[in-house]
Amino acid sequence: MLEQPQVPTPGARLSREEVESLLFHPDAEITASLARAARQIRDRIYGRGVFIRGLIEFTSFCKNNCLYCGLRRSNALAERYRLSPEEILECCEDGYRVGMRTFVLQGGEDAYFTRKRMTDLLQEIKARYPDCAITLSIGERSSEEYQAFFDAGAERYLLRHETATNAHYRFLHPPEMHLSNRMRCLKELRRIGYQVGCGMMVGSPGQMPEMLARDVEFLRAFMPEMVGLGPFIPHRQTPFAQEKAGSVETTLRLLSLVRLMLPSVLLPATTALSTLDGEGRIRGLDAGANVVMLNLSPQSVRKKYSLYDGKADCPDDARTIWREFSATLEQNGYRAVVSRGDPAGKEEIE
Ligand code: 5AD
Ligand code: SF4
Repeated sequence: MLEQPQVPTPGARLSREEVESLLFHPDAEITASLARAARQIRDRIYGRGVFIRGLIEFTSFCKNNCLYCGLRRSNALAERYRLSPEEILECCEDGYRVGMRTFVLQGGEDAYFTRKRMTDLLQEIKARYPDCAITLSIGERSSEEYQAFFDAGAERYLLRHETATNAHYRFLHPPEMHLSNRMRCLKELRRIGYQVGCGMMVGSPGQMPEMLARDVEFLRAFMPEMVGLGPFIPHRQTPFAQEKAGSVETTLRLLSLVRLMLPSVLLPATTALSTLDGEGRIRGLDAGANVVMLNLSPQSVRKKYSLYDGKADCPDDARTIWREFSATLEQNGYRAVVSRGDPAGKEEIE
């Protein structure tokens, strides 16, 4: 008989075995106890205000070939698009008008967006919206490029590490991709001064419980400002088409555990979670998340940015999305905040 694990106190240092047991113990009550403890610390640090990010998926071209992702270069059926600077700026304008103060520029690894094209774009966004933060999520680049993007106004960077286990990284990626390079990028981003986000999928093919525990250990050591976590969801045009999706329950437990380990982390309730569970965003917040990304991409391209199957098709404009989501938040005891949403601690210093 497995002994029921204890819910950790905030900031506690857990062994891998303890993490594994908290994530996978069959007692469903653990999910609720973890969530309760995580909410409590989240409420103490951030209150019930939820930071809203405007997500702009600006290119679906990618030179990489990650086995799990629908945008991988070998997927000849993927529909590719790039937004023009004007289109991207229109997305920002739509988001700004409704109250968004962070724009997340996300895309595949697309060489068309050279250093010059990116820095011109960043400078223009920053000039128009000096009170907003820009987050980049465009994968592995050289240190010089990371520095140039930072100098041009990007302050945050999301780069999931995907898995902290070498062999598992190799299983999920083609031979030319290396965990060591991913880690080098994360360290460079940190050194330059970005707020850095890393993270992983829950239930990705080949993931063993101890690997997820190792990911948690890595997060604890790296102490990122942001953590992106969502369930793996198969995409029909990838080698992992027949694999099964990650567990919502484990994702929720992991969100709570990350909140408890890194109390002031910025933690989104991700789109992947809401794809598997209609209530996923609220369940994520109730598990300790405090950030939500709402899609600002033009309607015409939203379906084409297809990392996994079944991504909620959202036909609404920014105003409707914000209004409806604000109402959902309020029904659940939260509120959308109009703010850049920096990590707690930093705002106090400013
Ligand atoms: N299921 C869930 N998440 C995925 N990602 C990519 N493909 C999938 C998938 N099939 C995540 C990866 C990547 C981020 C942009 O999206 O973790 O870092
Ligand atoms: Fe490209 Fe990112 Fe998809 Fe990998 S996960 S194929 S880098 S878009």
